[in-house]
Amino acid sequence: MSAPLRTSDPDPSPSSTHSAPDGAPGEVPAVHAERLRKAYGDFAAVDGISFTVPRGEAFGLLGPNGAGKSTTMRMIAAVSSRTDGQLRVAGMDPQLHGPKIRARLGVVPQQDNLDEELTVRENIIMYGRYFGLPRRHLFAKADELLEFAQLTSRARSRVEDLSGGMKRRLTIARALVNDPDILLLDEPTTGLDPQARHVLWDRLFRLRERGTTLVLTTHHMDEAEQLCSRLIVVDHGQIMAEGSPAGLIRDHSTREVLELRFGTDRNAEQAQQLNDRLRGADVGFDRIEVLPDRLLVYAEHAEAALEALHSSDRRPLTSLVRRSSLEDVFLRLTGRSLID
Ligand SMILES: Nc1ncnc2c1ncn2[C@@H]1O[C@H](COP(=O)(O)OP(=O)(O)O)[C@@H](O)[C@H]1O
Ligand SMILES: [Mg+2]
Repeated sequence: MSAPLRTSDPDPSPSSTHSAPDGAPGEVPAVHAERLRKAYGDFAAVDGISFTVPRGEAFGLLGPNGAGKSTTMRMIAAVSSRTDGQLRVAGMDPQLHGPKIRARLGVVPQQDNLDEELTVRENIIMYGRYFGLPRRHLFAKADELLEFAQLTSRARSRVEDLSGGMKRRLTIARALVNDPDILLLDEPTTGLDPQARHVLWDRLFRLRERGTTLVLTTHHMDEAEQLCSRLIVVDHGQIMAEGSPAGLIRDHSTREVLELRFGTDRNAEQAQQLNDRLRGADVGFDRIEVLPDRLLVYAEHAEAALEALHSSDRRPLTSLVRRSSLEDVFLRLTGRSLID
């Protein structure tokens, strides 16, 4: 469904901005940002970020609310200008080639902006008309996209009657009407129930398999782990870390985590003593994070760490051994939890 990115460069600017370190040599990256900055007055919403998205990749911006994710996406989508730095989308400068770029992008904004008055099918057709696509083509295209979004049976429903998950799928279907080779998704599943999220992940996974470049934002670490081959962790408009989900965990956390609850008032007081005890144990202990409701013990071998505690008399009320996640990476890098 998605046409390949053109390899010829429509924008005759310096070749250094077109290198694709992770893609095939000579390939124009889907997105390339260098010291990209967006300021509102004195406040830098995006504060000098650099990244490259090779074509065909599923690339994520992971960060808490206010990190600058949507601001970055709007600059990529050529609907918001940058204050400073470089930005190329499919080799073109969004400030010079907005319409050309938008013709090749699919955009799923953070807030659904479907036309509630129209039916599901009409939403896709009307959107396609903005791109100047012929009506006859759009009739067939709408049916194909409804099928893809599992909305065929709702083709004639009004949008206001759809569930949140269906609206999100329709927004994605609509964004695909121009056969984009780059799809931008700003928090695609925020606010959806787990089942609706899984249906959506499945659709996005299929797009990825077809070679569509996905650039998505999320503050859900499980979503980033599911969908993204590579991601940047952003906070306060800056990049804290970059890599594959597994690579980030390997570089910034221990293999496992032991979660302990001693009761609300006792977690902090336990932390110091545990720390001393685990330093001496052969469990690959790294550190302890004190959260309001629990302690996170970072150790290569969390089960062994738990055993070391059991042999003392400091019994937690509950304990849980798990693998490290991107949430742990974020906590490590910022001292804060990702989802507040
Ligand atoms: N139009 C605007 N004017 C002033 N500040 C803005 C504007 N848009 C966003 N911001 C601020 O920029 C920061 C980043 O916002 P945003 O990109 O929406 O973050 P995210 O999508 O990661 O939650 C926030 O502090 C937000 O309040
Ligand atoms: Mg946002």
